[in-house]
Amino acid sequence: MRSWILLAALTLPCAREDWKLEAVRPLADGRPVENDKWHELSCAGCHENVAREWARTTHATAWLDPRYQEELKDKRKPEACHNCHIPQPLSGFEPGTKPKPRDAAQAAVAHMGVDCNACHLGTQGEILGPVGAQTKAHASKKSALLTEEGQSQLCIACHATNVGPVIGIAKDFVETSQWEKGKSCVGCHMQAIEREFVSDPASHEKNGDPAYVKRAGRSHELQTPRDPGFLARAFEVSASAAGAGTRVTLRNACGHRVPGLIGREFEIEAELLDAQGRSVDKQTLVLDHTRSLGVDEEAAIEFSKTGAKVRLRGLHQSPGFEKRALFLEIEIPVAR
Ligand code: HEC
Ligand code: HEC
Ligand code: HEC
Ligand code: HEC
Ligand code: HEC
Repeated sequence: MRSWILLAALTLPCAREDWKLEAVRPLADGRPVENDKWHELSCAGCHENVAREWARTTHATAWLDPRYQEELKDKRKPEACHNCHIPQPLSGFEPGTKPKPRDAAQAAVAHMGVDCNACHLGTQGEILGPVGAQTKAHASKKSALLTEEGQSQLCIACHATNVGPVIGIAKDFVETSQWEKGKSCVGCHMQAIEREFVSDPASHEKNGDPAYVKRAGRSHELQTPRDPGFLARAFEVSASAAGAGTRVTLRNACGHRVPGLIGREFEIEAELLDAQGRSVDKQTLVLDHTRSLGVDEEAAIEFSKTGAKVRLRGLHQSPGFEKRALFLEIEIPVAR
């Protein structure tokens, strides 16, 4: 049995690279931290665990977002903004097209933003999922949209278009063949977890459903660049001696460019230190949407002097931040 599993792993076309992720801790940026109406969702009665995770994301607040509402005010056709902020279910959508919008007049539905149905409701009223676990609660079907490459297609449907301050960074993911290289949106933005798919397994046995097992799933709490710990993972840093000087490089490790939103800016301060830790020289690098880093692209900071170590400090400005936030603070040795 064991050798069979090993063989299966070896013959897979490409191993998925999943980031090991920490709990999400986004900084306050003037948006509501949670959609506190999550319990109104019919799904929440059984999937409270998932609903609470989702409620703390900008998917849940995509309509409530005060910056979104502010921008709608002076739009002659605000409906044109609704496609991705209050979408109809994406099942059956044509790749390369935008999702269809829900009717904003149905305010009771609008305030749920990118809701559960957007990603999970099938064209026949069935629930699409990664497993197809059978239950008396609803028809479930394993779907290409919730597994493998389809999961990324789901994200790309809304994240590949430039609109207002938003840069369609999912285009980078497609153009640089990230899926073929073992990367996925979900692999970096939704932490892999083992759990029961429902919050209260005991209550379901009364419905005549089979006993619940823990299954492999994903936290719905999106990892966001407003979280300093997650943002730091965007850059792989190194320092090495280069002739009579020193070169510090930052490589973009994301599946798309950084940053991907107008109004976001990184200021990276590099300080060259000697063996005693005394400052030798200092330089600053700024990245924003006009000077963004493409996938695997490197930015270099060149010093004309040599040193033993480099101290790096990174500050992040994002729309709504009161002040710039520290997301990177490390010392790295200079490789010879
Ligand atoms: C094709 C899908 C799509 C459409 C259509 C769309 N948006 Fe968005 N919008 C997004 C995505 C994706 C983000 C998140 C981007 C990010 O966080 O980098 C976003 C984020 C935003 C934000 C928040 C930016 C911030 O500061 O965090 C605002 C404001 C916004 N959109 C306004 C609009 C307006 C106004 C329209 C209509 C002109 C519109 N959107 C239409 C996909 C869309
Ligand atoms: C009455 C309880 C109940 C309600 C309400 C409910 N579900 Fe479920 N759901 C279940 C049970 C039970 C399972 C099977 C879990 C298992 O076997 O691990 C399930 C499974 C799922 C799955 C996994 C499907 C798969 O591929 O295995 C998804 C996705 C899902 N539900 C989404 C939803 C959404 C979205 C809603 C709201 C529109 C919803 N559910 C409403 C009880 C419910
Ligand atoms: C129906 C459209 C839609 C789909 C599908 C979608 N998104 Fe989004 N996403 C949005 C919108 C709209 C926003 C921004 C809302 C706002 O800021 O007002 C957003 C925001 C985000 C953010 C920024 C989060 C933050 O807190 O700054 C990330 C990351 C993200 N989405 C990842 C994903 C991933 C991964 C998937 C696929 C599993 C996905 N999205 C699918 C529309 C979508
Ligand atoms: C932006 C798309 C998106 C939205 C919105 C979304 N989901 Fe999911 N959901 C996914 C993806 C992708 C997976 C598959 C994860 C995997 O690979 O196991 C998933 C998996 C699930 C599962 C299986 C359990 C697990 O832990 O993976 C359940 C149950 C579920 N979703 C319920 C919900 C409910 C309830 C909501 C609303 C509160 C919701 N989802 C909103 C994309 C979404
Ligand atoms: C290898 C890991 C990785 C992959 C793959 C990946 N991301 Fe990201 N993503 C990150 C990191 C790290 C950040 C934070 C850096 C930044 O500010 O852009 C980020 C930022 C974002 C943002 C916020 C952009 C901004 O500037 O506001 C969105 C939206 C997003 N990702 C969506 C996606 C979608 C959609 C996909 C798949 C098409 C995807 N990501 C694939 C790691 C990844």
